[in-house]
Amino acid sequence: MSDEHIPGETAGASAGRREFLAKSMAGLLALKYASFDRLFAGEEPPLGGAAAPAGGFVMESAPGPETVISGKRVLYFGGTGYFALHGHPEVIEAGVAALRKYGVHPATSRTGFGNSPVQNELERRIAEFFGTEDSIHFVSGYLDNLFLVQALKDRVGSIFIDDTAHFSIRDAVYSALKPVYEFKHRDPEDLARQLKAKLKAGDVPLVMTDGIFPTFGVIAPVPEYVAILEPYQGYLCIDDSHSVGVLGPNGRGTYEHFGIRNDRCFYAGTMSKAFGGHGGFIPASKAFIDHIKAHCGAFAGATPSPIPAMAASLKGLEIVRREPERRQRLRRNVARIKTGLKKLGYDMNDNPVPIVTWTLKSPEAMKKAQMELFNRGIAVALLHYVGAPEGGVLRASIFSEHKPEHIDRLLDEMKRLG
Ligand SMILES: Cc1ncc(COP(=O)(O)O)c(C=O)c1O
Repeated sequence: MSDEHIPGETAGASAGRREFLAKSMAGLLALKYASFDRLFAGEEPPLGGAAAPAGGFVMESAPGPETVISGKRVLYFGGTGYFALHGHPEVIEAGVAALRKYGVHPATSRTGFGNSPVQNELERRIAEFFGTEDSIHFVSGYLDNLFLVQALKDRVGSIFIDDTAHFSIRDAVYSALKPVYEFKHRDPEDLARQLKAKLKAGDVPLVMTDGIFPTFGVIAPVPEYVAILEPYQGYLCIDDSHSVGVLGPNGRGTYEHFGIRNDRCFYAGTMSKAFGGHGGFIPASKAFIDHIKAHCGAFAGATPSPIPAMAASLKGLEIVRREPERRQRLRRNVARIKTGLKKLGYDMNDNPVPIVTWTLKSPEAMKKAQMELFNRGIAVALLHYVGAPEGGVLRASIFSEHKPEHIDRLLDEMKRLG
């Protein structure tokens, strides 16, 4: 992002304030959509979409290692249900029982009558799982970063984001009405340079990044960021949507993976992926959670998650906790697919992230490969997502419940594709 998007000074007088807002909004919208010009050109494929049969793929069963899609039972390597809990019988039963008891949701916000025993218990259990004093759960993981920005905006002067940060970080940051800068993807040296060049004296920075980046399955270099932020007393917020449940010895996510605990480091996750439920959450100290409740409009002004979804989340969390062997199986499966793909000549990292991504020589070749695999009973995603090149990427997500033979089948079919 260039300096022309950033006002030279904060809004004081109203004219200055209007100019600040106009420039910020224009600049930030340009930043947000810089990689998505296609959207405005009205060209296919749409943002975040996948190349699909006419009318789009339709999922006709719960997602799992085998899933019914558009009338066909396939080996499913799409989505993000890393422990395949969304269709787990206990998760379904928990959701159904809650629906019978409480109805859909309380139809009012949590500042009044909108707290339910299920939500209270879910927040207690999230805190327990992540080893924090408290937690807050809300209607969508997409709101994770909005909550974090709203909670921290008065403590910081400028915000720095990874240049392939998730859409939800990009949407959230301009709600702070503070200057926003991009640093190069997973590049601590560039972050250090930007902090030095852009921060005004006494300004506290907020750095925001994905923990695991969903398009290529790579992990942010968090220890380096923490060290760089130390002299500025800066804050680091991680969108850990793909990491919670998956990374770290106890599934607590990216900070646990790196062994970091620091009271200027915050994170947020989702129940919608590894935990088989739904909704976003932030585990933190009681003081920080109270601060969120007092300062975030989405707490006061929104209906909480549907109660059956929270009951399903609670059960999914319980299963992940009581069956750590799922994480072990996931790690073994990740190692198996990465080893296999390396043998086929693909460039693979060695991290434990259950996402493998590859590209072919042209967008047409990738569309064709996705459809050929689908026709042979294997679903992989063709993603046009944050950080993907023009033609998108082919991505296979690995689940703990994939059997070794499922993975070998994917490898065999990829070999046949050549
Ligand atoms: C990095 C990242 N953050 C946030 C979200 C949003 O989470 P949810 O789907 O739970 O709203 C996603 C969803 O895919 C994501 O990939």
